[in-house]
Amino acid sequence: MMNIVWHEESVTKEDRRKKNNHHSFVLWFTGLSGSGKSTLANAVAKTLFEQNIHCYVLDGDNVRHGLNSDLGFSAEDRTENIRRIGEVAKLFVDSGQIVLTAFISPFRQDRQLVRDKLEQDEFVEIYVRCPLETCEQRDPKGLYKKARRGEIRDFTGIDSPYEPPISPELIVDTDEHSIEQCVQQIIAYLQHKRWI
Ligand code: ADX
Repeated sequence: MMNIVWHEESVTKEDRRKKNNHHSFVLWFTGLSGSGKSTLANAVAKTLFEQNIHCYVLDGDNVRHGLNSDLGFSAEDRTENIRRIGEVAKLFVDSGQIVLTAFISPFRQDRQLVRDKLEQDEFVEIYVRCPLETCEQRDPKGLYKKARRGEIRDFTGIDSPYEPPISPELIVDTDEHSIEQCVQQIIAYLQHKRWI
């Protein structure tokens, strides 16, 4: 950027991590609408919070009401949605916290760009895997029904693509395991890494 210089911070990311007593990173949940991303992210956050860990959930349905209220669901808008979330997530990591993001984030390239913005031990891609048929049966917001009737265009899984991760750090199968089991799987991964 022209005429903008980066200001050195007085408290570093490392200082903050040391004080918080845990690592800071992004848990990036990706998957179809209705796969369980938000439910899982919130359940993991609750578990972390109870262990005195600093964490925060960024959720598609909420962020699209504020920061990204100007964006729709075209491919370009989804890309911009994820780019902004990536930048916000990076700020949370710099602040020494764990940030859990629950966005469909259907495009591999967009997720890769977020990964590239962070250090190697700061991005955990979690594929919330659930068959489309199951998501459609759950249909918690009635949106699949609307999409099938043609009342919503560009709906992920119906007339807009979802590109599953090729080598995510974690895959959780929400149609086979309970939320509690999936939470345990994620917590066990973080403990194994000695990040919490
Ligand atoms: S993303 O594709 O840009 O990552 P995001 O996670 O922010 O999507 O928002 C998805 C949520 O918006 C869905 O859970 C659903 O409630 C709602 N939504 C509304 N229209 C669509 C659509 N065309 N495709 C997918 N989700 C939609």
